[in-house]
Amino acid sequence: MAQRTEAPQILARCRELVRPALGRAVGQLHPWHAEITAFSLGWDGAGRDLPGAQGKGVRQALAVLGAEAVGAKAESAVLGAVAVELIHTFSLLHDDIMDGDETRRQRATAWRAYGTGPAVLAGDALFALAVQTLAGAPGGACAPAVRLLAGALNDLVHGQADDLLFESRPWTGPDAVQPHEYRRMAEQKTGALLGCATGLGAVLGGAGRSETDALTSAGRHLGVAFQAVDDVLGIWGDPEVTGKPVHSDLRRRKKTYPVLTALTAGGPAALRLAALLRTGEELDDHAARRAAGMVEEAGGRAAALAEADRQLERARACLESVALAPEPLADLLALLPYLSARLR
Ligand code: IPE
Ligand code: MG
Ligand code: MG
Repeated sequence: MAQRTEAPQILARCRELVRPALGRAVGQLHPWHAEITAFSLGWDGAGRDLPGAQGKGVRQALAVLGAEAVGAKAESAVLGAVAVELIHTFSLLHDDIMDGDETRRQRATAWRAYGTGPAVLAGDALFALAVQTLAGAPGGACAPAVRLLAGALNDLVHGQADDLLFESRPWTGPDAVQPHEYRRMAEQKTGALLGCATGLGAVLGGAGRSETDALTSAGRHLGVAFQAVDDVLGIWGDPEVTGKPVHSDLRRRKKTYPVLTALTAGGPAALRLAALLRTGEELDDHAARRAAGMVEEAGGRAAALAEADRQLERARACLESVALAPEPLADLLALLPYLSARLR
């Protein structure tokens, strides 16, 4: 029986392994872009981690564990881990501009701190650097690795496009966004990169088709779970933990999974919620709190958490469908519930 390691230790081990290569990659950027990237990654001017300002590093860990799970050394995944962290940082730089978000991880977003133009360009630079990093993968792994990343990027922008288009769709009626449309969007905007991370680990670790596919699918399901939880945090999350203002997604009338499932549930709370959202007026503190209460009463919060559980179960089933090394498999299984567990 493989020994259990707690998720934070697993993430810390992978972070330590990848950190020097990530630092070297960022060092190749134009100094202006390196500065904006360091700011986004929570590093100080000398490239050292500022306490508490980093992301969780889930994607880099998935790449490392993907390689270990197929029996390869963790080091073989470092290029892939760096590439997915760079792409993640790029996607957040651009996403915060699209969403008009002013804070992330308790700090100003890059576009607020440096301006929109510089943040867009720094994102572009990170995109290019990620592709260049992966293009350095050895031998036969290079082409499949770059193909996996390109597919994930294509999905990511499709998902972001739908997310933006959903904003102008009506709340109710035949054109309302359905929960299954949301799931596809979430799989693309968030799941694709997580699946790319585990898949890249497998590819760089020399795995065959079935292991790579199983690990990629597991990461994609984890991504949908991750997004459903992120949506719950976007409404009920503690700003101290999320680094974003309370009720931020509701104030902006974002079409998130808890809200969409609440609206399709029917019943008095769903009707009151639809009426409130349709007014089109700015939701002040009081209105946002009332709306959050209605979403909860109509079952939207519970539905989002149930969806997260369902997706985690699917991720688990994918991982158990192929023969993987027991210890890294145990680490992957320990990481799955970590994010949703933080909520309960
Ligand atoms: C971000 O989606 C997804 C990508 C950056 C591709 P969201 O807009 O829902 O995520 P947060 O809440 O800003 O992190
Ligand atoms: Mg956003
Ligand atoms: Mg967004």
